[in-house]
Amino acid sequence: MTEPIEFLWWKHGVIYQIYPRSFRDSSGNGIGDLQGIIEKLDYVAELGVDAIWVSPCYPSPMADFGYDVSDHCDIHPLFGTLQTMDALLQAAHQRDLCVMLDFVPSHTSEQHQWFQESRASRSNPKRDWYTWRDTGPDGGPPNNWLSIFGGPAWEWDAHTRQYYLHTYLKEQPDLNWRNPAVKEAMFSVVRFWLERGVDGFRVDAAHGFMKDPVLRDNPPNRNNAAIGYESMDAYDSQLHVNDRGHPDIHAVYRELRALLDEYSRARPRFTVGEIHIFDWSKWASYYGANLDEIHMPGNFTLVRIPWRASLVRGKVDELEAALPAGAWPNHVLGNHDEHRIASRYGAAAARTAAMLLLTLRGTPTLYYGDEIGMLNVTVPAEKCQDPWPQRSGKPELSRDPQRSPMQWDARPGAGFSGPAVHGDLPEPWLLFHPEYQRLNVATQRDEPGSMLDLYRCLLRLRRETPALTHGEYRALDDAPPAVYGYLREYGGDRLLVLLNFEGESKQVTSVSFDYGEVLLSTTLDRDGAEGLDPMVLRPYEGVIIRV
Ligand code: NOJ
Repeated sequence: MTEPIEFLWWKHGVIYQIYPRSFRDSSGNGIGDLQGIIEKLDYVAELGVDAIWVSPCYPSPMADFGYDVSDHCDIHPLFGTLQTMDALLQAAHQRDLCVMLDFVPSHTSEQHQWFQESRASRSNPKRDWYTWRDTGPDGGPPNNWLSIFGGPAWEWDAHTRQYYLHTYLKEQPDLNWRNPAVKEAMFSVVRFWLERGVDGFRVDAAHGFMKDPVLRDNPPNRNNAAIGYESMDAYDSQLHVNDRGHPDIHAVYRELRALLDEYSRARPRFTVGEIHIFDWSKWASYYGANLDEIHMPGNFTLVRIPWRASLVRGKVDELEAALPAGAWPNHVLGNHDEHRIASRYGAAAARTAAMLLLTLRGTPTLYYGDEIGMLNVTVPAEKCQDPWPQRSGKPELSRDPQRSPMQWDARPGAGFSGPAVHGDLPEPWLLFHPEYQRLNVATQRDEPGSMLDLYRCLLRLRRETPALTHGEYRALDDAPPAVYGYLREYGGDRLLVLLNFEGESKQVTSVSFDYGEVLLSTTLDRDGAEGLDPMVLRPYEGVIIRV
């Protein structure tokens, strides 16, 4: 008898990210809501994922679509109420789905009560909850820091005649985590949700909320070295050594982890951090020297490189090498900040990407709609919602294209909105993709070989196969350049994954195995015993072979 193996949801499972505005609108006002998510939980559970991560649904003026939180312990009326969230938690747990929320520690909305108090006067007890400074020596902002969304990171407050710091929009003032009262207040927020039954958090801008204590200028980025963030010329003109990734953040994460661990005695709770740091050792430091900080720093390296076998393999191998002993990896290919996978790589390669994501070692995060191959939507300038292109003047930075409403079926309105209050279908908050009649859940559910079919097969195979959930990873050195090949192995079960990254057939002659059993191909039309010397992969084909 083999020992039963432990299945820990955040390690061995798959996380499905839901952007609540865009998933399902139950109320018929054109904006998705929590009741809509509840209505679609059977779909999510049948898909075969293990957890949902719900992007911010807290009260917010929506300057940054919920990442400007005005009350961390409530739900925006657009999305429902605290009771709807309780019902969502209950309905998800009944289906063995864990629930993660976004935790946004680095800033609040300017309309948050804390900031309202803070900006009321220089002597307000909450003044020091945010970062306020006098003008700098040249009469301008206190230092040279820049906002990621464009312009200086400082906004002048005419009433109290000081500047406040905002790493993102001016409507998102940065909290001052060096003030112990701020830390306590934010930890209470974490407790509030853990008490309500939330299983974990995605920590927004997790590398950003501790800054240089004396706010020194950032040095210039003289060689224009790739910073690896959003390639925004102005922002990239500096090395962000003083306004992000300050080592003092680790002490906060140790405390946060201790808090999570307290609650994990009952059942495992979890944090994944949005860490846009592309120096591997700095990135890995967020696990903590004793694996006592965040459970996983999010790994976004694959999103930022071209779709080439050698580059992807290089990044995966670098990640594996950078992991501290005992630390668990993770991979992201899509989210609400990144263009759709099927638009970045093309529809055929998106199938290969699905196999990559679900067969690498580590926790995959799957962005809603990628399982039906959703594409970027072209949003005309006058309908643009995202503040980023508007503030930076760079339309190419818009995140609207990847946030369009989920395409549930082929009817007008794509099944996104429930019955409209006044009869007619409401206008959705963002346009649907014109190809929704082809790319939708209902159509693909009945279509053998569809993208949805592929995702379900991959998710099923992954769940049934410890080599994929728990196994070791080893890259193959003898695959041809267009092919990324690796082995996943657990308890004597050995799987070979071969992924053809290019649009021509590739003959793989040099793999060290003569014969194997194909468990799954991205074309879904090939399985069973097969000779491997040679093996011909069709354009963009990926295969999982038991060898
Ligand atoms: C990262 C989030 O993913 C992004 O959507 C948001 O705009 C910024 N953090 C600010 O919270």
